[in-house]
Amino acid sequence: MSDQQLRPAIAGGEPIRPPDEAMGYGGQSITEDDKEAVAEALGGDYITRGPTVDGFEERVADYIGVDHAIAVTSGTAALHLAGRAAGFGSSDEVITTPLTFASTAHAAVYSGAKPVFADVKPDTRNIDPDAVREQITEDTVGLIPMHYAGQPCEIDELLVIADEYDLTVIWDACHALGSTWHGEPAGSHPDMAIFSFHPVKNVTTAEGGMVVTDDDNLAKRVRSLRSFEIDYDSPGHEDEPWYQVTEDLGYNYNFTDLQAALGLSQMERIESFKRRRDEIIDRYEVAFTNIEGLLTPTVKEGVDPMWHLYAVEVVEAFGCDRKRFVNAMHAENIYVQVHYVPLHFHPFFQDEFGYERGDYPVAEGVYQGLVSLPLYPEMDNEDVEDVLRAVQRIQQHHT
Ligand SMILES: Cc1ncc(COP(=O)(O)O)c(C=O)c1O
Repeated sequence: MSDQQLRPAIAGGEPIRPPDEAMGYGGQSITEDDKEAVAEALGGDYITRGPTVDGFEERVADYIGVDHAIAVTSGTAALHLAGRAAGFGSSDEVITTPLTFASTAHAAVYSGAKPVFADVKPDTRNIDPDAVREQITEDTVGLIPMHYAGQPCEIDELLVIADEYDLTVIWDACHALGSTWHGEPAGSHPDMAIFSFHPVKNVTTAEGGMVVTDDDNLAKRVRSLRSFEIDYDSPGHEDEPWYQVTEDLGYNYNFTDLQAALGLSQMERIESFKRRRDEIIDRYEVAFTNIEGLLTPTVKEGVDPMWHLYAVEVVEAFGCDRKRFVNAMHAENIYVQVHYVPLHFHPFFQDEFGYERGDYPVAEGVYQGLVSLPLYPEMDNEDVEDVLRAVQRIQQHHT
């Protein structure tokens, strides 16, 4: 092999992938069937929220095994409405993880409540139930755990805490559509769960999100908030068909029949998406047994994640630090990503709520090494081998 082939691109070698074949860490899978489904919906009577949205909601509710599913414009909108439906308010505290996307904590903030972080477990990177207990005060009213990378949290322990302190739980299951915990689908636990259908997620509708619940009252409230909080059948105005009035501060988070058509078509392939994600991970895991200093995800007993992310940790024995590794992978035109910069590092949470670096040491320790390697169903075996070759050549160069 020539020196050019051995040397990583960051050190002057030829990149593993040419720039026009650069690879991201995730991405959608769109087939002709998906396109036809959207085109057909476009020719229907409704292109905003219509019967196809109802169909998609039923499909996801059946899949998760819950009574209600309410589709909205994004996972962020789903969190917003779930927080409002939970009744979070200005003197309340809501406990969540610092190792998540900002929207998870925004579910508390949008309703005027304070997000309180509880540290994570180093192995699963999920919120630590013991840390949750430590953060409970008399103002705590809610809990928003997030199933990191698709691996369900310690649901049983968290539900015991919620029960003990009468907390409303919103499971941020954006990563975990298709995952199970002791045979039970992620998202099927009380009180509510939310999903995202962003293109990198396990199923996509371009943008989109959903609130799922078994609770009739919460579902009614979310439905109403989604669509302006308008009472379309105001009592006493039966002979005034135009009489539609807002009952509270609502939003326009309506999902469209076009998105729902794509979602229904994608749900047909959810099992094959999971199979392909598992195959890619199996290949990574075999290869990484020979790579020192690259920690692969730990899977808890009884869970079957549909991995959304393949998040490894680059530690000292690898030979270079995470920053160098990420930049070296980018130089190979493989755009790995980091999930996430802990929320207490963000200026918003520091300025508004006084959090500081150092507050959540476990999350910070994990963050030091975190990198999400490419994982998406459209990756073929060659793509996977490219990632492995890039990782290997970067390590060889640094050791
Ligand atoms: C854990 C988590 N929560 C919430 C969101 C927000 O979802 P969306 O991008 O659909 O608003 C995301 C997506 O990025 C996420 O990963």
